[in-house]
Amino acid sequence: MTVFDYRNGELHAEDLPLSDIATRHGTPCFVYSRQAIEQAWLAWDQALAGTPHLVCFAIKANSNLAVLNILARLGAGFDIVSGGELERVLAAGGEPSRIVFSGLGKTAEEMRRALEVGIHCFNVESTAELERLQLVAAELGVQAPVSLRVNPDVDAMTHPYISTGLKENKFGIDIARAPEVYRRAAALPNIDVRGIDCHIGSQLTDDTPLVDALDRLLALVDQLAAEGIQIQHLDLGGGLGVTYRDETPPTPAEYLAKVKAHLGDRDLTLLFEPGRSIVANAGVLLTRVNLLKPTEHKNFAIIDAAMNDLIRPALYSAWMGIDAVRPRSDVAAQQWDIVGPVCETGDFLGKDRELALAEGDLLAVRSAGAYGFVMSSNYNTRPRAAEVMVDGGQCHQIRRRETLSELFAGESLLPEA
Ligand code: LLP
Repeated sequence: MTVFDYRNGELHAEDLPLSDIATRHGTPCFVYSRQAIEQAWLAWDQALAGTPHLVCFAIKANSNLAVLNILARLGAGFDIVSGGELERVLAAGGEPSRIVFSGLGKTAEEMRRALEVGIHCFNVESTAELERLQLVAAELGVQAPVSLRVNPDVDAMTHPYISTGLKENKFGIDIARAPEVYRRAAALPNIDVRGIDCHIGSQLTDDTPLVDALDRLLALVDQLAAEGIQIQHLDLGGGLGVTYRDETPPTPAEYLAKVKAHLGDRDLTLLFEPGRSIVANAGVLLTRVNLLKPTEHKNFAIIDAAMNDLIRPALYSAWMGIDAVRPRSDVAAQQWDIVGPVCETGDFLGKDRELALAEGDLLAVRSAGAYGFVMSSNYNTRPRAAEVMVDGGQCHQIRRRETLSELFAGESLLPEA
């Protein structure tokens, strides 16, 4: 039994019927399970027991303060990519010394703030970034802890838009050039070389490319050690896939057993930056069927959620499970395209889904806890959805639905005449 399961003919989130949540909080609404988030994080942390490690949740996947706070309470680290994400982690009670700062376009301002609060490490992606960090750290009179993000040139075999470890991608430092950049880093007075990192892509359902990348990084670690540059930690990024439909990705325990075996007796702390595998299946997008529009060619179920709420199907042709909250037997099941009201042909959440539907029915879009709300927009002047967290028999609103007036509160008219 998972946390989103049918009981008495109705889909529940932990102990709560989703229809109760819809009545209380309205739709569309993202519903997360505290238990699922905690279990997923613990699966990583426990699999690394006995090895020095830090699991840093990639907050880009879901950055709601309540989600971050639940993880902070478990002792999680955090992977951030902007000054905004840094402030979120701090606001949620995250420990600065457990933050790694990824991303290839850090500004001097972002570097300064991260140095002031004392983050664990900067994952540096270019020589230009390294030189800028040296300047900022020197101004503050501190040492900046640094890892270089190496691009190991392995094919993650995932969707091209979420593949990041190939030579032609904009990410990281070419592994062939990395020794030279490490030498430069080691020579800079305000740079403290600590680690090596990579992130080759997302939604990997086979861990072979991850382990290949690890081997390439380990060879570099050994080469650097021979030159007198000691690497203390190795950060393999995120990327572990989840089951949306019928994928069978390795569990964190299976993947990490391989990582530990390849590590051998090297004295390295292991860092990871999982995002999707912590939160994807800990959330659903709850939505209501607004109108049914059967046509000669296709049946369309027009729901109250849209591509602005969940852009993954439109952007990556991602398949997301869609289930009736209370499956009905009084009408025949048919093939439906589940579409939103936005004026774009790409505005669909699912195509050709076999469902028995009537107007007003509730649907749950599965696996919406990662890259769901965080990628939502106000396109078509649609207020962003509410977010709620189920905790056993309790449900807490963790972000209220936006109001229309908030959407244009920051805009102004030109002066008259
Ligand atoms: N670390 C770095 C440096 C990353 O760029 C990412 C994701 C992660 C960690 C977390 O990866 P994960 O464990 O979630 O795979 N919006 C896309 C996914 C983009 C991933 C970007 N980077 C989607 O909805 O599929």
